Amino acid sequence: MATPHIAAEPGDFAPAVLMPGDPKRAERMAESILDDARLVTSTRNILGFTGRYNGAGDFKGRPLSIMASGMGMPSISIYATELFDQYGVERIIRVGTAGGIAAQVSVGDVIIGTGAHTTSSMNELRIPGTHFSATADLRMAAAALAAADDGMTVHAGAVISSDHFYFTIPGQFDAMVAHGVLGVEMEAAALYGVAAQFGKGALTILTVSDHLANHSADMTAEERETIFQHSLKLAVAAAFA
Ligand code: HPA
Repeated sequence: MATPHIAAEPGDFAPAVLMPGDPKRAERMAESILDDARLVTSTRNILGFTGRYNGAGDFKGRPLSIMASGMGMPSISIYATELFDQYGVERIIRVGTAGGIAAQVSVGDVIIGTGAHTTSSMNELRIPGTHFSATADLRMAAAALAAADDGMTVHAGAVISSDHFYFTIPGQFDAMVAHGVLGVEMEAAALYGVAAQFGKGALTILTVSDHLANHSADMTAEERETIFQHSLKLAVAAAFA
């Protein structure tokens, strides 16, 4: 049973799917946190893996899937819809990067996106006459927040899901700062819309890779990988909450 964009069989996905944007990142994540990981789909090189979580503690051995989303809201909407609707997936946790917006957010921090403003029209027609509120699953967000430790700085609040990476609407940045928006990324609002449509759980956990106000220095590859482990820890907690 393949769907138009996923070449997996029924039962190939675990109830929870961690979803980075980049297929290579999905592969590296599967190699590092899954035992017996197997490739369940590779349509369009959007790689999906299922295995058993290899970390310590209560979650060890539990089934977990990891699949890439590609970039942007149309892309994540396609995969989230097919996973929720056709493959029995109950939870999707996006693990990605964000540009920092709020002054208190620094490169290397983690953002739990409990809500997502958006420049996209994808949720506009969901409830006629209504501005849709794109919100995360509270139980999953609470579990992620509870998994934070002293070695990481974690923020929880609203992000903005933008259709643009290289264009900023004039005046938008200052208004976002004034309204406490933590960071910008490109997928959360659409993921939350699809989860609401199917009555499923979704969460977005973001590593801050740059800051729009001060163009902070880039991280080294090693720093990036260490810091990504922070997001991953929170994402696993949300997957099994
Ligand atoms: N815009 C959108 N997505 C991002 C950014 C950004 O500046 N940085 C990391 N992900």
